[in-house]
Amino acid sequence: MAKRRPLVAGNWKMNGVKASIAEFGRICEGYDHALRAKVDLLVAPPATLLSTLAVVALGSRIAIAGQDCHPNPNGAHTGDLSAEMIADTGASAVIVGHSERRADHGETDARVRAKVEAAWSAGLTAIVCIGESRDEHIAGRTLQVVRHQLTASLPEGVTGADTVIAYEPIWAIGTGLTPTTHDIAEVHKAIRHALVARFGAQAQAVRLLYGGSVKPENAGEILSIADVDGALVGGASLKADTFLPIARAYL
Ligand code: G3P
Repeated sequence: MAKRRPLVAGNWKMNGVKASIAEFGRICEGYDHALRAKVDLLVAPPATLLSTLAVVALGSRIAIAGQDCHPNPNGAHTGDLSAEMIADTGASAVIVGHSERRADHGETDARVRAKVEAAWSAGLTAIVCIGESRDEHIAGRTLQVVRHQLTASLPEGVTGADTVIAYEPIWAIGTGLTPTTHDIAEVHKAIRHALVARFGAQAQAVRLLYGGSVKPENAGEILSIADVDGALVGGASLKADTFLPIARAYL
């Protein structure tokens, strides 16, 4: 089986204005030959910056992603963006099912699944987020919750080319808390197992990212865990000085 190429992805969330383009330029400059040889880099800016960053990224090999898309191809959905519109900016991927979307917009697994299908139809890689709440973690229900979200959020036909899974424990997002390496390893192993059981050998190529308080200080430890193929980074992805050192954990 071919080894999965690591991916370090930055989710800028609702951060970034025109002044942030220069910071993205620094990220592009820092993605040097040595890093490119070892790890893929992706940045998901707010929708207002997608087209601009896609142009700035040209030649750097950094991928650009949307943070969400509507499941429908077009229509009366004020304020929403279709997957085709995201792709039209020059983005090659879109995050779907982030816990903040699930919480702020009441997104269900079924809606996330429909968004994955929309992403695929537009030729985008879907970065599908799953993860348990603090209460579910404390109750020891993590594996159960994650398996259920996987089953319900993914359509048939997942492959490594069209789908990335991001395991983000909700209680670890923006809190500085992270699960133990043992717990991350256990969850990622369970995700891999569930994917292969459902989609067959082709699911071996699906990259599994960990997300939740990944920083330069803990990147080395987290990214060396078996079955962790990279990270989905929030706060630390906003600055080249904190984002690039996370990717450099692969050097
Ligand atoms: O999608 C990334 C994310 O939710 C993690 O955020 O700030 O804890 O790295 P952060």
